[in-house]
Amino acid sequence: MRPIYLDYNASTPIDPAVAAAMRPFLEDHYGNPSSGHWAATGAKAALERAHGQVAALLNCHSDEIVFTSGGSEANNLALKGVFFTLRDKGDHIITTQIEHPAIIAPCRFLERLGARVTYLPVDGSGRVDPDDLRTAITPRTILVSIMHANNEVGTIQPIEECARIARERGVLFHTDAAQSIGKIPTNIAELGVDLLSVAGHKLYAPKGVGALFMRRGVTIEPLIHGAGHEGGRRAGTESALLAVGLGKACELVGDLKQTERVHALRDRFWQMLRKQFSDDVVLNGHPVLRLPNTLNVAFVGHIGAEILARLDGVAASTGSACHAGRVELSPVLKAMKVAPHIGMGAIRFSLGRGTVPDEIDFVVERLVSVLAETT
Ligand SMILES: Cc1ncc(COP(=O)(O)O)c(C=O)c1O
Repeated sequence: MRPIYLDYNASTPIDPAVAAAMRPFLEDHYGNPSSGHWAATGAKAALERAHGQVAALLNCHSDEIVFTSGGSEANNLALKGVFFTLRDKGDHIITTQIEHPAIIAPCRFLERLGARVTYLPVDGSGRVDPDDLRTAITPRTILVSIMHANNEVGTIQPIEECARIARERGVLFHTDAAQSIGKIPTNIAELGVDLLSVAGHKLYAPKGVGALFMRRGVTIEPLIHGAGHEGGRRAGTESALLAVGLGKACELVGDLKQTERVHALRDRFWQMLRKQFSDDVVLNGHPVLRLPNTLNVAFVGHIGAEILARLDGVAASTGSACHAGRVELSPVLKAMKVAPHIGMGAIRFSLGRGTVPDEIDFVVERLVSVLAETT
C-alpha cells in the first residue's frame, strides 16, 4: 500500500521548483556572499533576491527580513532580543496558553531571568479575547506575542485587533506565523505587527531556514553576535543555498488560489467523517476561522495514538500523549478545555499540495474499519 502523508503542519516536502532553484547553489556559487571578488557575486545577488521574495510575500521592505535557521530561532530572536533590549523599560511579556513550544520555552527561560509573563487563556475554539489582552497590558509591558494560527487545531487569532491594541499602548507586537504563511494572507500592512516569524519547512522550503520580519525602526539585541551579517542582526556567513530555497518557496505560495483545492478537500474529509461517525466525531478548533488545510478531529471514547497506530501507512499527528498508560491531553486542547474523554481521541490531519481525493477516501474507509475493530 502507498503511504499517505497527512502531516503537512509538521513539515512539507521541498517543492520541485524550490529544489531546482537551489541546485546551482549546491554545486557552483560557493563564494562567501560578503567577499569582494567574483566568487561572491552570484551568492550575494541571490541573497538579495531572496530577501526581496520573502518581503514581497509579506508586503514589507527587503531590509526588514532577517534570515534565521527556522521558526524556533525567529521566535527566540524576537522574544529574547526584545527582552534584552527593553528590560530597563519593562519586564512584562504577554503571550497565550496555546503557543508552540518555540514561544513557551523561551518565555519560561526569560522568567528565570526575571521576566514576568502573562499567558492569556483561549475560548473553546482556541481564540484569544482581545479584551483580555487590553486588560493584561501594564506600563511594564514590553512585548505581546500571539501566534497567527495554531499548529494543532488551526484556529486563526484576531491579530489585526490585538496588534492595534498593543500599538495604541506603545507595546511591540510579535506574531508566530510559522503555520499561516502560504495558507492564509500574511500581509504585514494589514496585520500591523512589528515582528513576524517564518519557518521554511512549513511552506515547501527546506528545513533549517526561516526568517524574522523586523519592522524598520525596531532594533533588538541579536542572539548570535559576530560579524555584521543580516544588517548586524544575525551573525554567521549566510547560506545562499537555503535563502534561495526560502525565497523561491515564498514566491510560489504567494498565489493563495492553490489553497482553495486543499480547503475543499479538507471540508469534504470532515463531511465524510460526520456522515460515518455522526456525533462520535468532534471537530477541535474554530469551525470557520481556521487554517484551510487543518482538520483536528476527536473520536469520542477512543485514543488517538491507538487509532493512528492501526492506520498503517498514514502519517498524521495526535493531540494527546500516552505516558505510563495514562493519556495526557496536549496543552492546546487543555487550554481549550476539551473534555478528556474527547481530547484523548484527537487526531490532527493536515493536508497539502500533494493530497488527492483518493487518499481521503481511503483514510475514511480505514477509519471506519479501525474504529469498528476497537469499539
Ligand atoms: C507554530 C509554530 N511555531 C514554530 C515552529 C518551529 O519552527 P521550526 O521547526 O522551523 O523551528 C513550528 C513548527 O512546528 C510551529 O508549528
